[in-house]
Amino acid sequence: MTQKTWGGRFSGNTDHRVEEFTESIQVDHRLYRQDIEASKAHARMLAKVELIGLDEAEQICHQLDEIGQEIEQNRFPFSIQLEDIHTHIENALIDRLGDLGRKLHTARSRNDQVVTDTKLWVRDAIDLLDQKLHELQKVLLEIAEKYKDLVLPGYTHLQRAQPILAAHYFLAYIEKFHRDRDRLTDCRKRVNQMPLGIAALAGTSLPIDRSFTASLLDFSEVMRNSLDASSDRDFAAEFLFDLALMAVHLSSWAEEWILWTSTEFQFIDLPDAFCTGSSIMPHKKNPDVLELTRGKSARVISSLQQIFLLLKALPMAYNRDLQEDKPAIFDAFDTIKSILDVVTPLIQQTEFRREVIANRLEDGFLDATTLMEYFIRHGVPMRSAHEAVGKLVRECEQRRCRLIELPIDRFESVCPGQGKAVYQVLGVEKALAAFVSAGSTGPLEVETQLKVWQQKL
Ligand code: ARG
Repeated sequence: MTQKTWGGRFSGNTDHRVEEFTESIQVDHRLYRQDIEASKAHARMLAKVELIGLDEAEQICHQLDEIGQEIEQNRFPFSIQLEDIHTHIENALIDRLGDLGRKLHTARSRNDQVVTDTKLWVRDAIDLLDQKLHELQKVLLEIAEKYKDLVLPGYTHLQRAQPILAAHYFLAYIEKFHRDRDRLTDCRKRVNQMPLGIAALAGTSLPIDRSFTASLLDFSEVMRNSLDASSDRDFAAEFLFDLALMAVHLSSWAEEWILWTSTEFQFIDLPDAFCTGSSIMPHKKNPDVLELTRGKSARVISSLQQIFLLLKALPMAYNRDLQEDKPAIFDAFDTIKSILDVVTPLIQQTEFRREVIANRLEDGFLDATTLMEYFIRHGVPMRSAHEAVGKLVRECEQRRCRLIELPIDRFESVCPGQGKAVYQVLGVEKALAAFVSAGSTGPLEVETQLKVWQQKL
């Protein structure tokens, strides 16, 4: 029979089915490093306020480090009878230090311990993801530079709309991932408020110094209300929202590139090393990495749902349900990290098929809106210009030609005296060069944005 840390009140053993049902060690063993760090800080604080001796604190810290190494080197025995990581480490400490080990849990509860460990873990996860997003942004900027002069058809409703510079397209994703980084940074502020020392839910009658513990653990502040701190998982919901939105960005990008690899588009060539084949069709080169990026985003989004459902009916303060926060947090993080690890090199090695893109660039009336704006600049009311160009496009469709191929008199009739000058804006290249507004795909604007990001990243 394993001695439970809470065994005093109980007689007899816990039913093995209950042990199997309630254990979390298979999931929360991942918190061992954070649990040890937080315990060391707690021990040092206990010494500072003289609840234990200084040398006692040092012995505890030393043994905690040894336990950490054993776990690191897979020499540490885990068992579901000891429920969770907190109990495992405390038990191991008691095995080694006897009564001294029994002092560590002074003025502490697993309720504040688990949320402190989780916050320390999420804080590291945020820092790692920020770094990975930064790398992705740098690759996007590198590709934006590489394809600076490449013109792409821009789509709305997946119909050809207006020409865009490839650099502008990549800069758009740099912006999205920047907002993702901003959100993580903002989330980190609340992650970085320390719950430790609120004990079970109400605080403690012992004279602890929570600010001291916070400074040892690099928390920027101490949570003010013990009930709030015991129950709070807002930070987990925020973190999962941030990850879910990242997953949405990555998924819709993947969808776009899946289309672009198809024979119908042929815009890009994915590197062979990032594709897989078919077991029956010898010619196939499938974009599985992109498809799984899209597919795995579902897991991240559902982790967010999971935490919302978990929290919505919990009374104050700690409830055991909260143990279920960690599978959601870990799975969402693992999934996003694995996506970022593979898509960054994939993007870096993808080639755009300049010729195929250029050959079809004049299809789809990408210059129609610029033509309309040309008429507006020469005094034609917007709605009239819109209608006139719409009619010209219809005529082109009937004749199976492009706007630039229409006879001059068609343009003259819309805007007398300006018929010839429309050739200044017709054709995709000229239409693109005509953009001037802030934030547009105009070459000067894009150049400015590229410079801004070169400095920022
Ligand atoms: N394994 C638990 C969790 O993850 C730790 C806290 C348990 N607290 C308790 N009073 N049973 O939430």
